[in-house]
Amino acid sequence: MDKIIVEGGHKLNGRVRISGAKNAVLPVLAATLLTQGKNEIREAPQVRDVDTMVRLVSELGAEVDHFESDHVVLDTSGIDNPVAPYDLVSTMRASCLVLGPLLARLGEAKVSLPGGCAIGARPIDLHIKGLEALGAKIKLEKGYVHGTAKKLKGAHHVFESVTVTGTMNVMMAAVLAEGETVLENVAREPEVTFLAEVLNESGAKIGGAGTDKIIIQGVSSLRPFDCKILPDRIEAATYMIAAAITDGDVDVLNCVPSHLEAINQKLREAGVTLEEKQNSIRVRGNGELAPVHIRTHPYPGFATDVQAQFMTLMTLAKGRSMITETVFENRFMHVAELKRMGADILIEGHTALVTGVKQLSGAPVMATDLRASACLVLAGLVAERDTVVSRVYHIDRGYQNMEKKLSQLGAAIRRVK
Ligand code: EPZ
Repeated sequence: MDKIIVEGGHKLNGRVRISGAKNAVLPVLAATLLTQGKNEIREAPQVRDVDTMVRLVSELGAEVDHFESDHVVLDTSGIDNPVAPYDLVSTMRASCLVLGPLLARLGEAKVSLPGGCAIGARPIDLHIKGLEALGAKIKLEKGYVHGTAKKLKGAHHVFESVTVTGTMNVMMAAVLAEGETVLENVAREPEVTFLAEVLNESGAKIGGAGTDKIIIQGVSSLRPFDCKILPDRIEAATYMIAAAITDGDVDVLNCVPSHLEAINQKLREAGVTLEEKQNSIRVRGNGELAPVHIRTHPYPGFATDVQAQFMTLMTLAKGRSMITETVFENRFMHVAELKRMGADILIEGHTALVTGVKQLSGAPVMATDLRASACLVLAGLVAERDTVVSRVYHIDRGYQNMEKKLSQLGAAIRRVK
């Protein structure tokens, strides 16, 4: 198991280029199942979850014509297997995104129920209710979701609560359903809008993506797509916080400032200087950090995927911050590790009370999920002496070459086997 060793005390300076968004490429890879032919996907991030999803669609019958660095070519003419096996789905929850496309393409889907994970139970009941609204018959048997549908029919469905992949799953199924589908109380994340744009480019008729109501006119087939994955706003936020916490000066390139509005507002409140350009943001620390209260919320609110990283920043602010996690039931696993580095954090239910300290001290720490591991690396950048982050396979799931990008900015960071 690899570990990452970070030596604290180096300001970050220079430029970092953001990669394609993991949470945009995963649904797009699943959406290739809706088409018959060669799909080109460019600027895909080179992260483990992409490998897993490519393996999964190959298992379902896709031919991987090309999978070089950030360019994937998938031929989905021969999709013939409706079964997504446990060993693949259990390593990545987003595998459930093949449910909707398989039902639309083959009229059948057998997808292992995703296990829970460190941040919560993460059921897919809302996905299932949405697909049943389109006429799918779904049974849960031996740990698998088994769905069948002769022909999906458009329907009017209101999601009980906002779910990003739930919105994507039902939207993809509705694209090939008969007639009109109206989906309400849907997720508004940029990755949902991006998926709708890619599908529309291929002949789908989706309106309203990015708002809380999406209307889809079913079509009989889609052309294969050729798309360039949009930049990862969560990766961008992570490097912006790295610049802020080390009191550095970093140009974050290939990002979409408008996708980061809620994060930028809170960074400015904390005293960080941000200069937004067309597709980059320059981030400068000002020697001191002010405490800031945040509540995570579905987009356009403050992203839950940035909560852990922002908490690390607040451990060094001059005063007390309140951080409330409203999206996942158990997303404070990083708190215990930060406290081992000297952070002063008190948890009361879904709220963490962070009292700034002068300095963190390096320690051996352990990551529990993708974003928690990123927050521990950020803490290591400013802690005294060395921090050793283990279980870095979490990082490799969603961050491309993190230690390389940080070293190029001046961090003293290395990976050891
Ligand atoms: C997506 O997960 C992201 N993953 C997550 O990013 C992100 O944290 C999350 O959205 C929220 O923004 C991908 O896009 C691949 P949800 P998703 O369905 O879709 C509950 C990362 O670090 N819920 O919006 O699984 C659920 O338990 C990952 O990149 C149900 O109860 O999240 C959670 O409490 C982590 N039933 C809340 O809703 C359902 O059927 C929001 O979950 C579905 C969800």
